[in-house]
Amino acid sequence: MRAAPTTMWRSPAAPACLLVAAVLLSAVAAATAGEEYVKYKDPKKPIGERVDDLLSRMTLAEKIGQMSQIERANATSAVIEKYFVGSVLSGGGSVPSEKATAKEWQQMVAKMQKAALKTRLGIPIIYGIDAVHGHNNVHNATIFPHNVGLGATRDPKLVKRIGQSTAHEARATGIPYTFAPCVAVCRDPRWGRCYESYSEDTKLVQLMTSAMVPGLQGDAPARYPKGTPFVAGGMNVAGCAKHFVGDGGTRDGINENNTVLSFHDLMRIHMPPYDDAVIKGVASVMISYSSWNGVKMHENRFLITDILKNKLKFRGFVITDWQAVDRITTPPHKHYYHSIQETIHAGIDMVMIPYDYPEFVADLTTQVSNGSIKLDRINDAVSRILRVKFAMGLFENPLPDPRLAGELGDKEHRQIAREAVRRSLVLLKNGKHGEKPVLPLSKKADKILVAGSHAHNLGFQCGGWTVSWQGQGGNNVTAGTTILEAIKAAVDESTVIDYTEHPDKSSIAESAKEYDYAVVVVGEEPYAETEGDNLNLTIPSPGPKVIKDVCGLVKCVVVLVSGRPLVVEPYIGAMDAFVAAWLPGTEGHGVADVLFGDHGFTGKLPRTWFKSVDQLPMNFGDKHYNPLFPFGFGLTTKPSHSQS
Ligand SMILES: *[C@@H]1O[C@H](CO)[C@@H](O)[C@H](O)[C@H]1NC(C)=O
Ligand SMILES: *[C@@H]1O[C@H](CO)[C@@H](O)[C@H](O)[C@H]1NC(C)=O
Ligand SMILES: *[C@@H]1O[C@H](CO)[C@@H](O)[C@H](O)[C@H]1NC(C)=O
Ligand SMILES: *[C@@H]1O[C@H](CO)[C@@H](O)[C@H](O)[C@H]1NC(C)=O
Ligand SMILES: *[C@@H]1O[C@H](CO)[C@@H](O)[C@H](O)[C@H]1NC(C)=O
Ligand SMILES: *[C@@H]1O[C@H](CO)[C@@H](O)[C@H](O)[C@H]1NC(C)=O
Repeated sequence: MRAAPTTMWRSPAAPACLLVAAVLLSAVAAATAGEEYVKYKDPKKPIGERVDDLLSRMTLAEKIGQMSQIERANATSAVIEKYFVGSVLSGGGSVPSEKATAKEWQQMVAKMQKAALKTRLGIPIIYGIDAVHGHNNVHNATIFPHNVGLGATRDPKLVKRIGQSTAHEARATGIPYTFAPCVAVCRDPRWGRCYESYSEDTKLVQLMTSAMVPGLQGDAPARYPKGTPFVAGGMNVAGCAKHFVGDGGTRDGINENNTVLSFHDLMRIHMPPYDDAVIKGVASVMISYSSWNGVKMHENRFLITDILKNKLKFRGFVITDWQAVDRITTPPHKHYYHSIQETIHAGIDMVMIPYDYPEFVADLTTQVSNGSIKLDRINDAVSRILRVKFAMGLFENPLPDPRLAGELGDKEHRQIAREAVRRSLVLLKNGKHGEKPVLPLSKKADKILVAGSHAHNLGFQCGGWTVSWQGQGGNNVTAGTTILEAIKAAVDESTVIDYTEHPDKSSIAESAKEYDYAVVVVGEEPYAETEGDNLNLTIPSPGPKVIKDVCGLVKCVVVLVSGRPLVVEPYIGAMDAFVAAWLPGTEGHGVADVLFGDHGFTGKLPRTWFKSVDQLPMNFGDKHYNPLFPFGFGLTTKPSHSQS
């Protein structure tokens, strides 16, 4: 939107005379400044030449430094200078201080960057963070719906705007790199990361990947060479397609487990989104902790080097997941240095260490010095990292831009998030059989009941990866609007709202006749990764009881806040209306927008809604397909213009 590309990519077809002119001009510029001409510092040079020039000047220690990504907490100026650290990250929830402001984030990044710039060659660090549904580690950032909700919108243009907004908020804190998008094709909702996946359908994941990557990174020009990383500078950020490959296909949805599939099916179901990301110039690809047919992805040279780098022509850098090298070390047969050897040999370029950098650096140095790891492989890794850093203009603009601090939690971004919320809600039932539709609800009711654990809990509606890695409940987590607050803002001033988190059946019974309707909001509590693996997929208690108690007494709309479909068949008969809200994020107003008819329901299921867990895995296109609601299902309503 407001970003201006600063990339110095030059078409290979550029007339030679222009190149010669550029060389002369830069030589003149350097001469007049009275400095030695340094080719890699010359933004007019083609990126390939800058990479080669810089690489030729680097020592082994400087190269291994570029391949090292360490945790924020370890990244003092002294460590950055001593190890020539190439990259720093914030792990989930790793922040400079609780509720740090954009300015404080910028100061932290600037301090690290200044240390990097002080080293002999002055190679800037690239700071990375999981901005996976907005800039979610940061207090007061706009939190967008998790990917499963974005899949429900079926709206790639909206997803692209979300990518742009997320990039702007990351830049507000001085951060130029996000570990997003997750392009997993989740084939089993029992997986704890299923909400990070846009869909069980490869094509839908591809559609969203093709929108999110240019949203974050900016649009590559036409006829840009496939696989060359493209990141417009300014307000865009480098992205990362993850987790390569087959993360969403593990047995029983067990996180980080084994994906048993033929090569043909792996290529058909899980690989296509990577091709789209590469076409859009994605800067990096993160490897999955999981295995394919028993081999850990982090040591799979065939898939990383032969397929991703050679066949798909990916020329950005490949990064490990958090401590992933450690995780393939299985003593006593395998030592950490064997794991390093195998991962680097497989084609990994940057290692998210993140804490034990002295051991990593020492082991890798020994193995390159004694020939266990070829210098060519190191040069390939470093070239790829430098290519991204040059492409995104980091050498020219290494420091945070203080003018961007105001982008954090920006009103316009919150509007986009609100739009995403209302587009992501899927209406699965609207009125009991033979009865009138319940939605949209009237704003002019006399008295209504709002009930359930998720009605007034900002942390619950944001889910995992919000402020902390696992996420947490409560309303002081960050700035935003709960569903209850949104309902209050939507209804008539004269409407009385009774709110109860855990309703008592007998007290509801007493006033049941007074309620025009009830809105029941229940669902899952926040989780991330393995902690979210779940073999029963039931609505956590007391959710089912609240549904039965309230819906048995008052006309009710049930809004389910969850990262995936849950078992609802036993209760659906009792509900008058049923809405899947996924994990909507901070903008609760988007829920009220559709409940009360300011906007119609348009969301479509991005996943199959199963009847019982013993049907799983069950996906769209399967031979035996007997869902409660099929993939793509979603009732619509018209906006009720007569109201408000
Ligand atoms: C966060 O947002 C709230 C409400 O918009 C504001 O009052 C508060 O000052 C903000 N906090 C920070 C640290 O920016
Ligand atoms: C998969 O999970 C099972 C059960 O927890 C475990 O025994 C096995 O080692 C895991 N496999 C992989 C490849 O992680
Ligand atoms: C890095 O930081 C972690 C956590 O603060 C600490 O446990 C670890 O010892 C540090 N690593 C080094 C090499 O100092
Ligand atoms: C190189 O060093 C590693 C780690 O000490 C060792 O395992 C390996 O055998 C050595 N390789 C050669 C060729 O000396
Ligand atoms: C929110 O409030 C609770 C209780 O008042 C407190 O324990 C917690 O630290 C607060 N959380 C944040 C993120 O401020
Ligand atoms: C369902 O599984 C989750 C995750 O393992 C567990 O915490 C919960 O207690 C289980 N619920 C039931 C009803 O068994």
